[in-house]
Amino acid sequence: MIKAFLIAAVSADGFIAKNEQHAAMWTGKADKKRFVELTKRAGVVVMGSTTYATIGRPLKERVNIVYSRTKTFEGAEITSLEPRALMQELESRGFKEVAICGGSHIYSMFMKAGLIDTIYLTIEPLLFGSGISLFNEEMTQRLKLVSSAESESGALLLEYKVEHEVKPQ
Ligand SMILES: NC(=O)c1ccc[n+]([C@@H]2O[C@H](COP(=O)([O-])OP(=O)(O)OC[C@H]3O[C@@H](n4cnc5c(N)ncnc54)[C@H](OP(=O)(O)O)[C@@H]3O)[C@@H](O)[C@H]2O)c1
Repeated sequence: MIKAFLIAAVSADGFIAKNEQHAAMWTGKADKKRFVELTKRAGVVVMGSTTYATIGRPLKERVNIVYSRTKTFEGAEITSLEPRALMQELESRGFKEVAICGGSHIYSMFMKAGLIDTIYLTIEPLLFGSGISLFNEEMTQRLKLVSSAESESGALLLEYKVEHEVKPQ
């Protein structure tokens, strides 16, 4: 069965960006390296059109799938499929895992659908004060910490499993 992982970097106060135009260039070397390794391992990246616009080009050596109802982008496949239907389509194309690369809307949509198996979260040692949160919807989801590492620049590289069985109140 195909699996999806969520991959994100947050400021120490929990934001993925200051605003919609803020590209994720503020993360450290260790985060960038892990992002490239894990997304290449998956072979397919899924993101929202706002996130794609901040990157401005397809991520090479990976199939780029962009959620949009209105736009098209060269080098990317556009979709508005329900998350489960997209996963089924990708499974039929031979993918074993899918990297869910944000932003907040897309993270929330896949999380709410119960399709995220693993979360790779990097906590960078900086504060934004305000901005876009990792998720934009209320949720309660228990996680299990699988591994943690500290980079030279003081970022925390965390890996969590999403516990689907336990639903705390
Ligand atoms: N720090 C990190 O790790 C990280 C990672 C990723 C992104 N980011 C940041 O997050 C910010 C963007 O996040 P965001 O939440 O504002 O936007 P987003 O999730 O990247 O994209 C939202 C867009 O996706 C499309 N969309 C959403 N649901 C859809 C559906 N069901 N069907 C079809 N299209 C759908 C819509 O595009 P249309 O309007 O085109 O229809 C919507 O405007 C940026 O600043 C980016 O840099 C940070």
